[in-house]
Amino acid sequence: MSSERPKVEKTSNSSAVSLSDLSEWKELLKHRERLDHVSLRELFAADEGRAEQFSLQQGNWWLDYSKNRMDRQVLDALLAVADAVGLQGHIEALFSGQRINRTENRAVAHMALRSPAEKGFEVDGEDVSAAVHHVLSRMESFSERLRSGEWKGYTGRRIRHVVNIGIGGSDLGPRMASAALASYADPSLKVTFVANVDGEDLRSALRSLDPEETLFIICSKTFTTSETMTNAESARNWLLASLKDEAAVSSHFVAVSTNRTKVVEFGIDASQMFEFWEWVGGRYSLCSAVGLSLMVGIGPARFFEMLAGFHSMDEHFRLAPFSQNMPVLLGLIGVWHASVLGYETHCVVPYAEALRDFPSYLQQLDMESNGKRVDEQGQTLKVQSGPIVFGQTGTNGQHAFFQLLHQGTHQVPCDFIGFSRSSREADLHHDILMANFLAQTKALAFGRSAQEVESAGVSSGLVPHRTFPGNRPTNTLLAPSLTPYSLGELIALYEHKVFVQGSLFGIDSFDQWGVELGKSLAQDILPAIVEKDSLRSPQDSSTQSLLDRYLRQR
Ligand code: F6P
Repeated sequence: MSSERPKVEKTSNSSAVSLSDLSEWKELLKHRERLDHVSLRELFAADEGRAEQFSLQQGNWWLDYSKNRMDRQVLDALLAVADAVGLQGHIEALFSGQRINRTENRAVAHMALRSPAEKGFEVDGEDVSAAVHHVLSRMESFSERLRSGEWKGYTGRRIRHVVNIGIGGSDLGPRMASAALASYADPSLKVTFVANVDGEDLRSALRSLDPEETLFIICSKTFTTSETMTNAESARNWLLASLKDEAAVSSHFVAVSTNRTKVVEFGIDASQMFEFWEWVGGRYSLCSAVGLSLMVGIGPARFFEMLAGFHSMDEHFRLAPFSQNMPVLLGLIGVWHASVLGYETHCVVPYAEALRDFPSYLQQLDMESNGKRVDEQGQTLKVQSGPIVFGQTGTNGQHAFFQLLHQGTHQVPCDFIGFSRSSREADLHHDILMANFLAQTKALAFGRSAQEVESAGVSSGLVPHRTFPGNRPTNTLLAPSLTPYSLGELIALYEHKVFVQGSLFGIDSFDQWGVELGKSLAQDILPAIVEKDSLRSPQDSSTQSLLDRYLRQR
């Protein structure tokens, strides 16, 4: 088995040879047939030590991947594929701040955001740690001033509400982490998130707020995103309708961006902008100033604990041998499912209400990164790339879509995420929650055979309906408790898992050209709506008739 990391020259994330042409890939495919008729029951029966063998501890997290339809040979074949694509070199390119985002000609270096100051971190040949830590300390002092009440609103009142306006990566990370770490938050300072351009999002956020006590963080890497800029303008109008003085804006608006010019154009002084850099991708930006609303909510010390958790997973990913490397293993198992076995979806089920936004966060992280159909060279992929990610908290999901997971015709690999201790006090609720957590992966893996159903006295007509085929793959991730540190580890685990998969597919995981077409078509259609002139620009017959209908009904 390949357990040691081979020495590979540093390369960027580009594979000249496509995955499906590799002999190692062809070897891997042979195991699909071999295991086709082998059940998880048989795999467990054949090896008493299976759970231990296919488990791994890293930091706070225990990963049990034994309930996947794979064995040691499959794992070895996957590790051989990882070596053959030069994953080691890709990781080194990532950690040395190279321009691995080829289609945008950008370096990728979100690990620099959580790297301790004294370690240094080079991006494009320049040490960025001083700049990173300068912004972190500006965020720290701003958060302290807000939390202590030293920062006042325009009329001298204390700020009690912070509204983060942003979308995609400028929303999902801080929103998810703020909910996850709500038990650490200062209850006298409420942080709310507004993303959707549907005015109802902003209206409902502002409904109970007092402009004199509200501060807006306008969070946008580009500061041109239509949804965010529309919401930011409306928020400013709302503030000025009440405070009636342009000078009030500076006490109630700060910006997080890479685009100083646009921030100033909007009317926010450059001194109230928290900078980040183009080498931080939106969906990888939580540890940058994009996390400002989170830091305000939980306080700088907790935020820094989260960064330390991220960093420890970064170091593990960079240094651990692949066979003991949690992000590598999760990534390889995902490729086995999506690209070899053809399972098109991936479900994430956190058994923690605090992680309710984690599935949406992962959707952007995974699907915007690996939802690509061509490789870095522009060649059409010959294998299925990143999966369709979805999920919901347990136990709620059990009463919604789990029926299909257990008995549907699709195979849906799942990640179950849980904690031994509740983030509040220990109680029966948590034990019930975790009993379900354990029961579900057991039911999915081992099912209930027709024979077992019959012997339980079920009438023969109902036997097929009450049979559970089992063999449904799951990973289980268990940590002692949900803390800033363990959350940081968890997010970094998934970031690197996505990187591993992108490396195997040979794609650019850091661009997102797929979001552009819809954006530009909306810009094309909007004038026709605003000017009530549906013939302003030519449309296909379906879009034209829908547009006409919209204009008639609005
Ligand atoms: O959805 C496309 C996207 O570019 C994301 O990648 C990004 O996180 C989001 O829009 C928001 O962009 P910005 O931070 O520039 O407003």
